[in-house]
Amino acid sequence: MVAAAPQLQKRLTIQVEDIAPDITTIRSLDWDRDRFDIEFGLQNGTTYNSFIIRGDKLALVDSSHAKFRELYLDTLRGQIDPATIDYIVISHTEPDHSGLMADLLDLAPNAVVVGAKVAIAFLEDLVHRPFERIQVKNGDTLDLGQGHTLEFVSAPNLHWPDTIFTYDHKSQILFTCDAFGMHYCSDDLYDADLAALSPDFRFYYDCLMAPNARSVLSAMKRMDALPEITTIATGHGPLLRHNLQELTDRYRRWSQEKGKSETLVGVFYTSDYGYSDRLSQAIARGITKTDIAVEMMDLRSADPHEVNELVGRATGLVIGMPPSTGASDAQAAIGTIFAAVHDKQTVGLFESYGGDDEPIDTLVNKFRDLELRPAFAPIRIKDTPDEALYQFCEETGTDLGQLLGQAKKLKKLKSLDADMEKALGRISGGLYIITARKGNLTSAMLASWVSQASFQPLGFTVAVAKDRAIESFMQVGDQFVLNVLEENNYNHLMKHFLKRFPPGADRFAGVRTRPAINTSPILGDALAYMECTVTSRMEMSDHWLVYSTVQDGKVSNPDGITAVHHRKVGTYY
Ligand SMILES: Cc1cc2nc3c(=O)[nH]c(=O)nc-3n(C[C@H](O)[C@H](O)[C@H](O)COP(=O)(O)O)c2cc1C
Repeated sequence: MVAAAPQLQKRLTIQVEDIAPDITTIRSLDWDRDRFDIEFGLQNGTTYNSFIIRGDKLALVDSSHAKFRELYLDTLRGQIDPATIDYIVISHTEPDHSGLMADLLDLAPNAVVVGAKVAIAFLEDLVHRPFERIQVKNGDTLDLGQGHTLEFVSAPNLHWPDTIFTYDHKSQILFTCDAFGMHYCSDDLYDADLAALSPDFRFYYDCLMAPNARSVLSAMKRMDALPEITTIATGHGPLLRHNLQELTDRYRRWSQEKGKSETLVGVFYTSDYGYSDRLSQAIARGITKTDIAVEMMDLRSADPHEVNELVGRATGLVIGMPPSTGASDAQAAIGTIFAAVHDKQTVGLFESYGGDDEPIDTLVNKFRDLELRPAFAPIRIKDTPDEALYQFCEETGTDLGQLLGQAKKLKKLKSLDADMEKALGRISGGLYIITARKGNLTSAMLASWVSQASFQPLGFTVAVAKDRAIESFMQVGDQFVLNVLEENNYNHLMKHFLKRFPPGADRFAGVRTRPAINTSPILGDALAYMECTVTSRMEMSDHWLVYSTVQDGKVSNPDGITAVHHRKVGTYY
């Protein structure tokens, strides 16, 4: 059943389906991306999935985003009398799943809220009213009757500090909220079309789960102890049933891969304070584009032993300013960090823009007194964070990762076979500048690993290093321009685009450009240009092989010849 909300401009619809004899999902379908969150990069909208489980007792697992208030609550009323809800399970308290909790508690005043200890504490701050509650730990169960015994699995940091999974023993469905999800909106309830979903599944993992890879593996170990799982009912996107094994294997493989790095950055933020979580996420995403591992930790809910242990293991620390008042737990965690830091650690600080931030200079000075190396200039925020700031944070994170990974990279390169390197160096390519625009953001890079790959449609591949700034602009569905450089007329462009640009820099300052139909910049001095769309990406060890199709293109000088790049060794471009 699909019901629309005609009064709303954005396409918000609701889908109601039975996923087991006593279990119904209410999926809030949000077809249009309408905000800049890094993990919404693929622009396929999203869904917020909520579940009704009917035993002798009635349980609701998660609800919806506040923007679906009327639509969701009307639909819920159509399914059950909300006053009869016995339990509301909150997988975590992020507003997109718990934004309607105050309304639900109005409608179901006797409902008992079930969640992790941290989730219950966060919810108290969110709804400002008394409510019945059950705090659950890993392995706790709740019997709804009719065989529906719910078992809770602790899954902190996936991707909020207070996350739990819920396993229903009768239906063998595991409700995981953010974990294993994707921002993908379609009427398909399940994951039948693996090829269509894969880019979104990966992108979502990279943004939200890769910075918590260790927590992913811990949660999956706990999942392994459960009986068979037939369906993973996620909070975003389609439910996993057809490709459950394949998709969970991917999570395991990617997380194990991330965990291999010996170098680690601990990113500390304060959940639900200002823009701390979003900004820390952007920085963490930037770091994980390099070879460096990240672990994120919420200052407010982290156990002092965990803080101490993470600081002890980390080479780099990134800390978002906590509130200066009313958050004694976060302040105490900062104290623990100071007590645990050791010399040779690298530290970067950022403001949270929460209105009551701990003064950043005080902390900067304290770390300086301890002779810790600054990872980057403190990130000070004067205005409401926008996409340019998130780009800045991501690129700052990548720079930090590259800084920490430099020594290791040099060692690796030196160990290769010299003759083989020279032979590989005889592979040559043309010279190109890739340019891209996404909203108000732009990026560019010089590329020579470009090769035509198909006639129909016309398409080519380019190998893009995983830690390139422009990599974030070359996700499946993104558009860009391939500018071909001309022999005898490319030195100025090559020199310009090979500059080491600081995070967030305008890479086109002083360069003559005009906009393409897809809005990406066309270079005035390009011999030819092509307007392109990314169709698929193949993962290599250190590059993404990006296959794109060409929609339009022109040559400015019919007699011009493409600049060719000859090199000596295959260990650099
Ligand atoms: C001749 C030459 C060819 C290059 N070709 C590629 C390429 O095909 N893919 C790539 O990822 N980087 C390539 N690079 C590296 C990037 O152009 C450049 O170092 C990069 O823009 C800087 O990193 P950033 O954009 O992430 O800041 C090449 C560099 C040179 C000098």
